[in-house]
Amino acid sequence: MTMQQFRMAGVIGWPVAQSRSPALHGHWLSQYGIRGAYLPLPVQPERLQDAVRGLRALGFSGCNVTIPHKLAMLKLVDKVDPVAARIGAVNTVVVHDDGVLSGFNTDAYGFLASLRDVRNDWKSSAGPIVVLGAGGAARAVVVALLDDGAREIRLLNRTRERAQELARIEPAKVKAEDWDRRNEAPEGAALLVNTTSQGMVGYPPLDVSLDALPKAATVCDIVYNPLETPLLAAARKRGNTAIDGLGMLLHQAVPAFEAFYGVRPTVSNELRRAVENTL
Ligand code: ATR
Repeated sequence: MTMQQFRMAGVIGWPVAQSRSPALHGHWLSQYGIRGAYLPLPVQPERLQDAVRGLRALGFSGCNVTIPHKLAMLKLVDKVDPVAARIGAVNTVVVHDDGVLSGFNTDAYGFLASLRDVRNDWKSSAGPIVVLGAGGAARAVVVALLDDGAREIRLLNRTRERAQELARIEPAKVKAEDWDRRNEAPEGAALLVNTTSQGMVGYPPLDVSLDALPKAATVCDIVYNPLETPLLAAARKRGNTAIDGLGMLLHQAVPAFEAFYGVRPTVSNELRRAVENTL
């Protein structure tokens, strides 16, 4: 009888204690009875290159990457997946058998999978989409929607220059608008997504009115703590479908887990509750 290989992976960040990834992957490791481990890996920015080399040396299957390393990791892997290149950030590194390191970004996949969990008939070509914010999370959301067929994305960010910079990704479809237009921009939209930190525990609510948003539109928040942000509460109250940020967090881990451990896991209600209990 051959021993099943012991597979190791983890999440590299600085700090990393706040990451839900060890709980998430740990849940699946025990659910599927896999011989393996998934560890929090605190790595200072100046040690990132050594740490990445160490993955190979230690026989890791790969790792996830979180704040503040997602951009730097682009340059440290041997190959970058086209989606990660477009987003400009790597959140998953896979160590191949020959030692080659590939960088991926599963956040775009995670966002759409979470949206379709709730709206399984969702089509990104359904109508105009409003995206609030222009940071790293916004890049993943915009790339996901464009690759899924979005025709018009209205991008609004407090600092307009960052929205204009992100709009360059596909200027014919992504239009940067002034933050002052945030209460009018939802008019006629099929989807509104908050990617800013506003509404997160310890931050003020997002200062945006939904009055102009059609009742049939979906509202997504990428914030998952709290699960029901003031934005989502307001959306639900007026009859819009409201989708919290936990789904994206859970779904982005699916392709990573499959790459590390060879099993494609499912996002169950039990997993959702287990991760909710760590918030
Ligand atoms: P991430 O990479 O996780 O998206 P980030 O780069 O810090 O995080 O981006 C945070 C987002 O929240 C930005 O779009 C930021 O706007 P700025 O580019 O103007 O900083 C947005 N944000 C932060 N505080 C805000 C506020 N008080 N009102 C509106 N937007 C805010």
